[in-house]
Amino acid sequence: MCIRDSIKSTSLETPIIERENAGKSLEEAVGGWDRIIVLTAPIGYGKTTFMNQLRKKHLKEVGYVVTFNTFTSIENMVESFKNAFPRWKRLFEGNTDESRFGEYLAKKLGGSRMLAIFDEAQDYPPEVFKWLRILNDHCDNLFMLFIGLPGLDDKIASEASLRDRRAKNMFLESLSTEKLAEILEKRIQWVGGCGIKPFTEDGARRLSDSAQHVPRKLMENGQKVIEYCAKNEIYDIDSRVIENALGSVIDVEIVEKQAPEALRASESVFMPTQSVGGGVIQGGFSFLSELSPTQQEIVGLFKEHESLSIPEISQILEKDIRSVGSLIRKLRGLNPQEVARKPNVPYPVVVKSGKGSRAGRIQDLYSLSDNSRRLLTEN
Ligand SMILES: Nc1ncnc2c1ncn2[C@@H]1O[C@H](COP(=O)(O)OP(=O)(O)O)[C@@H](O)[C@H]1O
Ligand SMILES: [Mg+2]
Repeated sequence: MCIRDSIKSTSLETPIIERENAGKSLEEAVGGWDRIIVLTAPIGYGKTTFMNQLRKKHLKEVGYVVTFNTFTSIENMVESFKNAFPRWKRLFEGNTDESRFGEYLAKKLGGSRMLAIFDEAQDYPPEVFKWLRILNDHCDNLFMLFIGLPGLDDKIASEASLRDRRAKNMFLESLSTEKLAEILEKRIQWVGGCGIKPFTEDGARRLSDSAQHVPRKLMENGQKVIEYCAKNEIYDIDSRVIENALGSVIDVEIVEKQAPEALRASESVFMPTQSVGGGVIQGGFSFLSELSPTQQEIVGLFKEHESLSIPEISQILEKDIRSVGSLIRKLRGLNPQEVARKPNVPYPVVVKSGKGSRAGRIQDLYSLSDNSRRLLTEN
C-alpha cells in the first residue's frame, strides 16, 4: 500500500480527532438561543474539517445541519437549504422565492432547529449577509455558524445587516503535540501501516512537534519528510532524519528564490490537504516543463494561493487580463489543440473552484486541480 492510494481516497474518510470542546461550546450556544455564532481560527487549524464533522455528528437539539463551502450565489444557497429536507417535505413547495425564503424555511422547520454553517465566511459579499439577516428575522429556529479567519468576528460585528445582532464568538483551539501524534498514528494505520512505522517513537514525536500545534502544518511537514526519505531511500525515520528533511526543504526554498525556473520543476514545498505520513511515494514526472513560461508562473502562483481570480493573476504578473484569461482556459483543458499537443500534461491543471468577493466584486475563482497539486508535490 502506498501513499498514492490514500491521497485518492476522499478526505471524508480520513481519520479525525474529535473536537470535543468546540462541539460542546456549539451545543451550549444553540441551547442558549445564540442564533448567530462566529468561529474563527487561523488557516490550517481544522475549521473545514470541524464543519464536515458537524454534518455527521448528532448535535443536541439540532434537527438539520446544512453546510456551505465557498460562496457561489444566493440561488445556490437556496437550493442547499431546500436539499437539507427529505424529499417528501419538499413536495408542496409553495413560494421559495429568495425574498420570501425565510417564511418558507420557518414553515418547513416547524419546531425543529436548523444549523446552517458557512465556511470561509470572510469572503462573503455584503448582500449575502443582508439576505441572511432577513432569513434570521423570519425564521426563529434557524441558527447560523459563520466560520472564517481571525477578524471575521469584527467583520460580522460591523456588517451593517448583522450589527445589531449579538453574535456569540468561538475559537477553535490549536492541537497539542500529543493530539497531533495521535493523528499521525491514526493516519499511518489508515493507509495500512503498522504502528507508527516508518517513524520511530522519537521521530513521530519530533514531527508532531514541528507542526507547532497546527494540523495542516503536520500534513505539510509529513509530506516533506516522506519525500525526502523516498529520495534518499531512508526507511527508518527518527528525529534526526526529520530535522535533516525539514532543514533540507528550507534550503530548497532559499535556492528557489535564486533560480526559480530551474527549481520550479522539482518544487516540493506544498502539499495536498489529504496527504499522509507513512508509505513511500513513487517519483512523479514534471509536466511543468511542457507549459509555457507564463503558464508556469500561473501554476507557481496557485501553489502559493489556494484560489485566485483572473484579475488578481493579471495584476500580480502584470499581464493583460485577456491573455491571462486565455491561459487559464488552456490550463483548464478547454483548448483541444493544446490538450492534443501536450499528452503529458494532466488536464485540467486548473479548475474553477467557486466564486468569491475580491476587491468588492464577485468573481470566478480558480485553483489547482487535486490531481495536479498531487503530481506537483510528488516531484
Ligand atoms: N481534528 C482533526 N483531526 C485530524 N486531522 C485534522 C483535524 N483537523 C484538521 N486536520 C487536518 O489538517 C488539515 C487542515 O485542516 P482544515 O480543516 O482544512 O483547516 P482550515 O479549514 O482551518 O484551514 C487537513 O489536511 C486535515 O485533514
Ligand atoms: Mg478551511
